[in-house]
Amino acid sequence: MTPRIYIPGDSGALALGAEKVAKAIRAELAERGIEAKIVRNGSRGAYFLEPMVEVATANGRVAYGPVKPSDVKSLFDSGFLTGGHHKRWLGAPDKIPFLAKQTRLTFARCGINDPLSLDAYKSLGGLNGLRNAVAMAPADIVKQVTESGLRGRGGAGFPTGIKWKTVLDTTSERKYIVCNADEGDSATFADRMIMEGDPFVLIEGMAIAGIATGATKGFVYIRSEYPHAVAVMNKAVEIARKAGVLGVTVLGSPNAFDMEIRVGAGAYVCGEETSLLNSLEGKRGVVRAKPPLPAIQGLFGKPTVINNVISLASVPVIMDKGAAFYKDFGMGRSRGTIPIQIAGNVKQGGLFETAFGLTLGEIVDEIGGGTSTGRPVKAVQVGGPLGAYFPRALFDTPFDYEEFAKRDGLIGHAGITVFDDTADMLKQARFAMEFCAIESCGKCTPCRIGSTRGVETIDRLAAGIEPEKNLALVTDLCNTMKFGSLCALGGFTPYPVMSSITHFPEDFKPAPARVAAE
Ligand SMILES: Cc1cc2nc3c(=O)[nH]c(=O)nc-3n(C[C@H](O)[C@H](O)[C@H](O)COP(=O)(O)O)c2cc1C
Ligand code: SF4
Repeated sequence: MTPRIYIPGDSGALALGAEKVAKAIRAELAERGIEAKIVRNGSRGAYFLEPMVEVATANGRVAYGPVKPSDVKSLFDSGFLTGGHHKRWLGAPDKIPFLAKQTRLTFARCGINDPLSLDAYKSLGGLNGLRNAVAMAPADIVKQVTESGLRGRGGAGFPTGIKWKTVLDTTSERKYIVCNADEGDSATFADRMIMEGDPFVLIEGMAIAGIATGATKGFVYIRSEYPHAVAVMNKAVEIARKAGVLGVTVLGSPNAFDMEIRVGAGAYVCGEETSLLNSLEGKRGVVRAKPPLPAIQGLFGKPTVINNVISLASVPVIMDKGAAFYKDFGMGRSRGTIPIQIAGNVKQGGLFETAFGLTLGEIVDEIGGGTSTGRPVKAVQVGGPLGAYFPRALFDTPFDYEEFAKRDGLIGHAGITVFDDTADMLKQARFAMEFCAIESCGKCTPCRIGSTRGVETIDRLAAGIEPEKNLALVTDLCNTMKFGSLCALGGFTPYPVMSSITHFPEDFKPAPARVAAE
């Protein structure tokens, strides 16, 4: 049997040297006169182990990682093609604790095979959901998605089924499905990982959304910083079209659905749905006032479903295994699974898909293994640049939309950034205001002007100028931004700022005291 070697071609693994490892393995094979098939799979998401090379053996796959080009010779000497022991030996990939502890529904196939092999996709249950959907009435598909409890994974957590019903109930002849793959939040990479590692699941989810709502055309808006994802998605769409998954007769049914990939304009605010629509129409990425909702008047003025990549990629498993199966995972009103992206100063960074309900402490300490510097964790920012900083005292918060909201936080797109005790929370608060000032689309005053005044006020605080007055001013400003901004960029910037002030007051002491304390 020709040996089979799996080397991830996902951009995360490439950034960690996967291409150099592939080159070294090819050279070693040639030198030893061994014929082997090299498969470029996606990443399984244990990025602390990338580049993670796998070999298919008679007893299943065996993984090695993180592999360096300098390891390759000794790997061959250790008989890695048949699973031989080596210092990089990790054993069966699905037994690696970081992967074994996960509940993979959305990412079930990600990283296992060549992402562009439709046969491999089908062999692991791919297209089952779409096959069921084409045999159903649109309203029944929408009902199933509603009953699953799926909520938008882009940040707002809005029920996906309700959004789809609004579009289904419109009478327009032209409707659109828009996939939001702008993924601008710090610490997030779930969208990228699935687009590069299992692109057909997103295509399948979008086709189901089209059939469910009467939309025949879809667009994926991918941030310009994701060239690999753009390339993989473009190829996958072409393959799906040739195979009849997309086109005028989806899987041979009377339903038509096709889609195109669009590259984003490079602004954080273009991830906000109405700004994204403007950008997609070739206009400047400025937020539109709501109403009208995009579901009524969206892309080119037509009813439009806008969903995040993970929301859409979670639909196939719901349509395959049923609403009750999906809903069975999770807690409270947060149903199903959530791909948590663990990053920052953390030992075991990567993507961890699990049912809602793990506590923040379990995620940071047990799954993430604490900080990579070995110092104590001081703060964890959950939900990207607009998310709150949680101190260790709040580590018992379960990962759940409502539980985080209760503690003035948010889950957002489920990215978490870990900071050790050297972090200066005043600097982090300033950074949040500065980020808002830079990324503001400029449409409303609280955000456009408020964020700049916020930076100036925090600078005065840092310099020890009238600390009490300036602290009160920042608090007042945050209140104005929170309640007066048109969208969540200005509206949520107060979360990182106020959580820093509330949970880490020692970092906001006047400058001389701060210097003395250091
Ligand atoms: C400033 C800002 C940036 C956003 N960026 C993203 C993004 O990158 N990806 C995303 O899916 N949603 C983003 N959102 C949320 C979207 O506006 C929208 O809620 C989401 O695309 C809806 O899809 P969902 O219901 O599937 O989550 C952003 C919102 C704001 C205010
Ligand atoms: S809050 Fe900021 S980004 Fe949002 S509409 Fe207002 S100015 Fe634009």
